[in-house]
Amino acid sequence: MSDQYQKLAQFYDSFVSKNRNYDEIATELSEIIGDYRDLLDIGIGTGLVVEHLLQIEPSYNITGIDTSESLLEEAQKRLGQKVDLYCQSVSELNIGKKFDVAYSRGGAWTFVSDESETMLASHILSSVDIQKSFDCVAKHLKEGGVLIISSSNAYGDNLVELDNGIIHKRIASTELIENERYAILDYLFYQNEELLAQQTLKLKLLSHETYTTMLEKAGFIEKDIKPGKYNIYSKN
Ligand SMILES: C[S@@+](CC[C@H](N)C(=O)[O-])C[C@H]1O[C@@H](n2cnc3c(N)ncnc32)[C@H](O)[C@@H]1O
Repeated sequence: MSDQYQKLAQFYDSFVSKNRNYDEIATELSEIIGDYRDLLDIGIGTGLVVEHLLQIEPSYNITGIDTSESLLEEAQKRLGQKVDLYCQSVSELNIGKKFDVAYSRGGAWTFVSDESETMLASHILSSVDIQKSFDCVAKHLKEGGVLIISSSNAYGDNLVELDNGIIHKRIASTELIENERYAILDYLFYQNEELLAQQTLKLKLLSHETYTTMLEKAGFIEKDIKPGKYNIYSKN
């Protein structure tokens, strides 16, 4: 399985913790989750969201999936037996369980906005596979289950200093290829001006009309939008 995060894994926790407050993220997410207990984390990464969710509510039953073996290794170390982890893409998801809530916190897909519109940014690049990913989530949700997709501001240029004097630079651009839009994110890590690691991520950008049609096709209806935070859908 392609692991777009392999070269980032060793730096992941330190650079995301500089940019995000996982305590606040988990608190907001748990307020949306309410009394539901069976949760699917789509793109669990190193497990930071889950760690904070379990601090708020230890009785959550959480399953995490991810395509990155290197990040899943970190999640396993962090969470041990507290979660079930699977190295699977959401577009091929098949784990014989049904959940109350599935969420993607900057995982397989996330919402990004520019001055004029909000788009869905997807790690899955083919439209056929994006549709399959929504269909697979719908199949793994109980009747009336909920899908939560976060919004992200991590798609612009950025420069932060990490521990040990490591400098992390993110350079963002967009590309138009055969009428399809993509976000290109270049992640660079320097120490004493020496390049330690570099990884380029490519995400497909879908317009509001396109992603709404796809979600509806999979049986999701829009339930609530918390602008700049989360879009919440329920399974029909
Ligand atoms: C920006 S990271 C976010 C990780 C975590 N949710 C967090 O908030 O720290 C995006 C994650 O989505 C995962 N991912 C990308 N494509 C995926 C797919 N098709 N299925 C499942 N996970 C995927 C990546 O491997 C990565 O771990």
